[in-house]
Amino acid sequence: MSETRQRTGPDDDAPGARTVRGCPVSHTEYGEDSELYGHYALLDAEREAARFHFNDTRPRGFWMLQRYDDVLEGFQNHAVWTTRVRSALNPEPGIALLPQDLNGKEHAKLRRVLNPFFSPAAVRRMEPLAHRRCVELVEEVRPKGGCDFVAEFAIRYPTDLFLSLLGLPVADGEFFLPWSETLFAGFFGGDPEAAAEARRNILEYFDRAVNERRAAPRDPAEDMVTRLVQARIDGEPLSQEDILTVCMTLMLAGLDTTRSALGFIFTHLARHEEDRRRIIAEPELAPAAVEEFLRMYPLVIQAGREVQEPQDFHGLPLEKGDVVWLGIASANRDPRKFPDPDRFILGREGVNQNLAFGAGPHRCLGMHLARLELAVVLREWHARIPDYRIRPGVPLTERGGQLTMPTLPLEWEV
Ligand code: HEM
Repeated sequence: MSETRQRTGPDDDAPGARTVRGCPVSHTEYGEDSELYGHYALLDAEREAARFHFNDTRPRGFWMLQRYDDVLEGFQNHAVWTTRVRSALNPEPGIALLPQDLNGKEHAKLRRVLNPFFSPAAVRRMEPLAHRRCVELVEEVRPKGGCDFVAEFAIRYPTDLFLSLLGLPVADGEFFLPWSETLFAGFFGGDPEAAAEARRNILEYFDRAVNERRAAPRDPAEDMVTRLVQARIDGEPLSQEDILTVCMTLMLAGLDTTRSALGFIFTHLARHEEDRRRIIAEPELAPAAVEEFLRMYPLVIQAGREVQEPQDFHGLPLEKGDVVWLGIASANRDPRKFPDPDRFILGREGVNQNLAFGAGPHRCLGMHLARLELAVVLREWHARIPDYRIRPGVPLTERGGQLTMPTLPLEWEV
């Protein structure tokens, strides 16, 4: 694993210019793994060094917006800055995603089809299942006196809920989970052939599920795949390919993120006895705690956008085709918006304005589901395993790009 490096400012040793269009150049590589919280330290330093940076670690480079107000404005500037680039670190799309890849009216039409399954009311209907599955998984690990929290709990839980959201058997997680893990690893340097095979398996699996619903539809108000099959946009049904892309997108967007959030949350709680005690004593605080955790440990550190027409953004001259980095993690930890940003403050004023789920029309489709999943885990885990610690001597790390902890070994008394 290589260290995440930062080389910005007067010591800049790059052969090229120190500024581009008057903007300081950053060579910080945000795609590399680092020690835990390494990326936040770099992002915090760059945000305070200059309002904008031009980062030259990718062939196209990207313009970094880092302050809360700028990042929020960037998300709202969706008519001019589109998701033709979804990630500043990977500006070439690679794999199709829906609804992400759509913009404007086309995007809004597909969101209208999907939104009912992710509304607060729809998510509340999933709560009993979320509780049940969470308790089952906690009870499975509890007698062991320890586990790799990431592999044995944090990824299994959202995978099971994802399968039931699609109306698929939870038991399929046994083969589905290794596929999704292999596919995801492929985006972050894993074996590309294994990832391609996993992708084929997943698409075939979804294809069978969609065909089953075509043959035997269920209630479209309750069953998402049936709704996707029956939906009409401008009078036309969605193609089989688009339906499969939506399923694939939900998997890619929902599983790794929830797992990662759980890893960061439990690391914090293992290390901060006082915060853990409060959650044990007052489980009703779980949703507020989740919100402050999402603010403090944002794992989707950025969203990318491509500029469609020239624009002066607060003195930053942008041209058509430029790539913009909307710095979610920088914004969530911006002391101008959230004073004392490194402190976990339960009930922090304005915490709901954090940008962990983005903002504007592409704001996370699954945010209510994610919040529910995380709050349920806080309550159910601590009701059963209130005291735990991180196994000593294991160095904690985070993957770059989109943060996640590869491992979190926890132990407790049984
Ligand atoms: C803690 C967990 C999660 C985090 C931090 C997160 C974060 C985000 C962010 C930042 C975006 C905006 C990207 C952009 O503007 O380009 C997004 C979009 C999206 N998320 Fe999530 N997400 C989480 C969980 C989920 C879950 C559970 C699902 C679904 C099962 C989901 C589905 C989506 C989809 C479909 C989009 C694209 C929305 C669109 O383009 O209209 N996410 N998410």
